[in-house]
Amino acid sequence: MNLNQENDWVARSLQHVWHPCTQMQHHETVPLIPVSHGRGAWLFDMEGKRYLDAISSWWVNLFGHANPRINAELKDQLDKLEHAMLAGFTHAPVVELSEKLAALTNHALGHCFYASDGASAVEIALKMSFHAWRNGGQTEKQEFICIQGSYHGETVGALAVTDVSLFREAYGPMLQRAHVLASPDARLAEAGETAADVALRAAAALEAKLQERAGKIAAVIIEPLVQCATGMAMHDPVYLKRLRELCDQYQVHLIADEIAVGCGRTGTFFACESASIWPDFLCLSKGISGGYLPLSLVMTTDTVYQAFYDADVRRGFLHSHSYTGNPLACRAALATLAIFEDDKVLQKNRVKAEFLNTAFADLKNDVRVRHFRQQGMILAFDAVVDDAERAATFSRRFFAAALKQELLMRPIGRTVYMMPPYILEQDEMSLLAHKTRLVFEEVMA
Ligand SMILES: Cc1ncc(COP(=O)(O)O)c(C=O)c1O
Repeated sequence: MNLNQENDWVARSLQHVWHPCTQMQHHETVPLIPVSHGRGAWLFDMEGKRYLDAISSWWVNLFGHANPRINAELKDQLDKLEHAMLAGFTHAPVVELSEKLAALTNHALGHCFYASDGASAVEIALKMSFHAWRNGGQTEKQEFICIQGSYHGETVGALAVTDVSLFREAYGPMLQRAHVLASPDARLAEAGETAADVALRAAAALEAKLQERAGKIAAVIIEPLVQCATGMAMHDPVYLKRLRELCDQYQVHLIADEIAVGCGRTGTFFACESASIWPDFLCLSKGISGGYLPLSLVMTTDTVYQAFYDADVRRGFLHSHSYTGNPLACRAALATLAIFEDDKVLQKNRVKAEFLNTAFADLKNDVRVRHFRQQGMILAFDAVVDDAERAATFSRRFFAAALKQELLMRPIGRTVYMMPPYILEQDEMSLLAHKTRLVFEEVMA
């Protein structure tokens, strides 16, 4: 592939592809990278230049690009069944996946409802909660609580419980209002306060709201342990524990959006396990298919399931997507779960997370770095940039400088983060730390 052909792909893409989460005009100055192929933690462009995928291609890829084991499973599945509708039919991949996931929660969440993207799973959880209360005669429970800085996706229902102004500002009038309560973000600690103190303070604010309005509240939705899209805001697990207690006490559902933090990202398979709790609804997507195919799902309890189980069709959950429970996507997920089990991934990730932390030690101690933090295979820090204009362009400048160093990184504001695939080897982690340092120096100069 020569340079002209590469430029051709870029030009053709800019002509006809409307890229996501992008001000298209920025591509007049910001490069668009035409990807030719991927291997392991690396993406290759059409000139043969490589990029270490330090953010797992938007947090989806767990075991590398073109993973031979997932590829083999998918090839096998392709010759059996590519798709069949899930209403009135079922198939082995969806049954096996649901059984395995239920077992991973010790059957606390024994029912899986499928969709394709993360936002759809959030929509499903919100609708299911609302409808479950309604079926139980509690028709007043129509409101939702989310947390400051929350991000749950960009469809209209999910955006209503999202508190990132960049994404919701333009659509405010379209969205049903949710209650937005204090964040347990450990960075909010005042002098002398621990992360647990901040978490309990935020939980107290939640309790005050529940005391006032529990009869009207269907559910609280949270991103357990790490609010990723707002800038990797991390909190103490005591927050989750307290939330579970409060939701039980005030008869409100707890929705755990584990779309970004599930599948081992924070150290345990489900982030909620860090607090030894189960929510009423757990949303999964992204990593569950190993980063291969769009798959999302909502896991829920027998109690919720039974609230819909009835002779009357209208009491059922009449929600569907064409690709619900797609066999290929489920098979990719089964292959992903098999890798977790066979390769003792959670155990190995503990060692990798420690190595990553050590590799970044010099940045951790840099005076231009604040709030260096880590939760499992997510490592983040905030760059101190006082000049407003430079702060506003930090992320874009960092992205461009990172590309020159063969890194795919997209800071959120001034928060630089790593969320790499779990297959990263020690030499790749050292390289990542070394090159991040070079990029940081260039961008901060
Ligand atoms: C916590 C969380 N919820 C929901 C979503 C939305 O998922 P999707 O982009 O697949 O719709 C995301 C995506 O980043 C997420 O991080």
